[in-house]
Amino acid sequence: MLFKRLLSTSPKCIGFAFDIDGVLLRGKNPIARAGKALRLLTEAKVPFVLLTNGGGTLEAQRTKFISDALKVDISPLQIIQAHTPYKTMISRYSKILAVGSPAVRGVAEKYGFKDVVHTNDIVRYNKDIAPFSGLSQEQLIANSRDIPGLDKSKFDAVLVFNDPRDWAADLQVVTDLLISEGGLLNTLRREKSATPAVPIYFSCNDLLWANPYQLNRFGQGAFRLLIKTLYSQMNDGLPLNDHILGKPTKLTYDFAHHVLIDWQQKMVNSQVDSDQQILPEIGIEPTFTPFDKVFMVGDNPASDIIGAQNYGWNSCLVRTGVYRDGDHLANVEPTMIVDDVYEGVVSVLNKYS
Ligand code: G3P
Ligand code: MG
Repeated sequence: MLFKRLLSTSPKCIGFAFDIDGVLLRGKNPIARAGKALRLLTEAKVPFVLLTNGGGTLEAQRTKFISDALKVDISPLQIIQAHTPYKTMISRYSKILAVGSPAVRGVAEKYGFKDVVHTNDIVRYNKDIAPFSGLSQEQLIANSRDIPGLDKSKFDAVLVFNDPRDWAADLQVVTDLLISEGGLLNTLRREKSATPAVPIYFSCNDLLWANPYQLNRFGQGAFRLLIKTLYSQMNDGLPLNDHILGKPTKLTYDFAHHVLIDWQQKMVNSQVDSDQQILPEIGIEPTFTPFDKVFMVGDNPASDIIGAQNYGWNSCLVRTGVYRDGDHLANVEPTMIVDDVYEGVVSVLNKYS
């Protein structure tokens, strides 16, 4: 894809998008030299954003944690989490099922969704709905709400925010709603269809991700596979028509590109302390870009690198996360493979700026 560049003067305008898990952090632990890499860019006034398929907290909380962990100032306007684009859906859907860690209820409410139900609320309402839930009674009470009239009105959408925590219950409750009568709990539609009773959105499709354990772990993409398989089994083999956001989708790269451009403009106009951010609608391409090159720095070839490649961005594949030397890269062609994020940043600045 070619973007019309607004400015064509030297020096070259370079931007970065950094993946988080496996590039900046493993779990909550900083990866060596990650802070140094971001501080270098801050000092050199090179614009960057964080583009992660993770989530479960508000953008401001996540950037606060990362700023403290890596000892670098990162604005909440510099991050795109997997579910950040859901902010643009608040007027489209009123009553939603928020799927993910218990904290996603608060995230959804802060975004502005009016009627937010978490899977745990449905288990609390009737434990027989999810007989294999792994939550103890104590955990359930601590992480759910008693919602009067829960079963009286229809759900408008299922939004998966981050990796679910109680898969047995989540699989059951989500599938129940997808094959209900128009999104009403405790009902089962007669028709078989590829179109679910309510739309479902997955905020990312990562089969694997890198946490502190030595082997890669299943992510939201694994949960999606199970939902799709169950839905198909319940619908005479028809596939589930769902929606996916997150890397490597063009939707998310367009969204991130807008955010990166907005941040670059704020740097130029000395407005980096602003908390004003006009988010684009999902699916809208930027009409101009100030960047000669944007580098996506990521650890997952199937997410970060192929996404950047398809979008026309360059990429640095690091060895600190999902990717291991010798892994088959198929049609994925990173611009460079580097030991870690610091090596990536220094190499790009030396070669391209
Ligand atoms: O659950 C998080 C994971 O799927 C990936 O996060 O930062 O590597 O895109 P990240
Ligand atoms: Mg990663």
